[in-house]
Order: sequence, then structure tokens, then C-alpha cells
Amino acid sequence: MQEKKIELSFILAHLNELSAQEQQLVANAKSAFKTAYAPYSGFLVGASVLLENGEVINGSNQENVAYPSGLCAERVALFYAGAKYPNIKVNTIAVSVLSKNFEVTDVISPCGACRQVMAEYEDKQDKPIKVILHSPTDEVLIANRVEDLLPFMFKSPLLKQH
Ligand code: THU
Repeated sequence: MQEKKIELSFILAHLNELSAQEQQLVANAKSAFKTAYAPYSGFLVGASVLLENGEVINGSNQENVAYPSGLCAERVALFYAGAKYPNIKVNTIAVSVLSKNFEVTDVISPCGACRQVMAEYEDKQDKPIKVILHSPTDEVLIANRVEDLLPFMFKSPLLKQH
């Protein structure tokens, strides 16, 4: 047996330590959660995607009475960006949250399905996507690449081999 270790890297910071452009992206994500349709959870999530062409695409979670039919903010924003600009790379995604029911004191941790979607875009464009997770207390957790959030992801070549 052989033990292999992998290094995952994250940065914890305060919002005001980010560049002006990244602070603006977080501000966009904060505005975006106001457009959330979350009558069932009361958990509002906004995601802002900064593309290589400078364009910013915003998304928010969209729930449904048939619960699994809803979609998280990250995927709404990324799919919208992919549909609008299929060949433009994603630089950064910022995510911000607010709960109508309780005080959120931690940064949000994106669900597995959103990580898988982020990771596929990162793989497709062959360039890291920076992920900025923002809490209402203005703490931010930064991953410089999605791979740090989803090691050993399922990649399309694995599918193509069979
Ligand atoms: N949600 C997101 O939009 N993004 C996440 O990273 C986690 C969860 C949404 C899904 C659902 O509308 C609500 O938050 C509660 O799970």
C-alpha cells in the first residue's frame, strides 16, 4: 500500500484585503442574492462570474415547489455565462449569501453539484477559476482553483475511454 498526499490550498481574508475588482465582484454577488427566488429555504445566494472579456454575469438560487427542480446560484450564473459566451473563459466566481431565518456567520460552502459544474468549466478552459466565498461578516475564503474544492473530480476523458 502506498499513501499519497495532496495539498489543497485556501486563503482566508477580510473583504477589504481583496483587489478593487474582486471587491466589486463580491458586491455584485451581494446584489444578486436579492434576486433569489427562495420561498422554501429563505436562504438567498448570489453568484457573480467575471469573464476574461471583463463581462460580469450574475445569478441567484431559483427554488421550486418540487424541490430538486430548483437550481443553486452558482450553476444559474455559470450556465448563463456558458450559454451567452460559450468560448470566453471564466476568471473568477464570487458567491455571497443571506438567510432570512438565521444569522450566517460562516462563508458558504458550495454544494457538490456546483463544485462539479465549476470544475468542468475549469477543466474545459484549461485555466484555473478563482472562487471567492463571502460571508455576511465580510470574511472571505478564496480558492485559487476549483480543483482545491473538488479533488479527484470525475473528468470527461474518463467517460470517453468507455
Ligand atoms: N444554494 C445555493 O444556491 N448555492 C449553494 O452553494 C448552496 C445552496 C441554495 C439552494 C437552495 O435554494 C438554498 O440555497 C438552500 O439549500
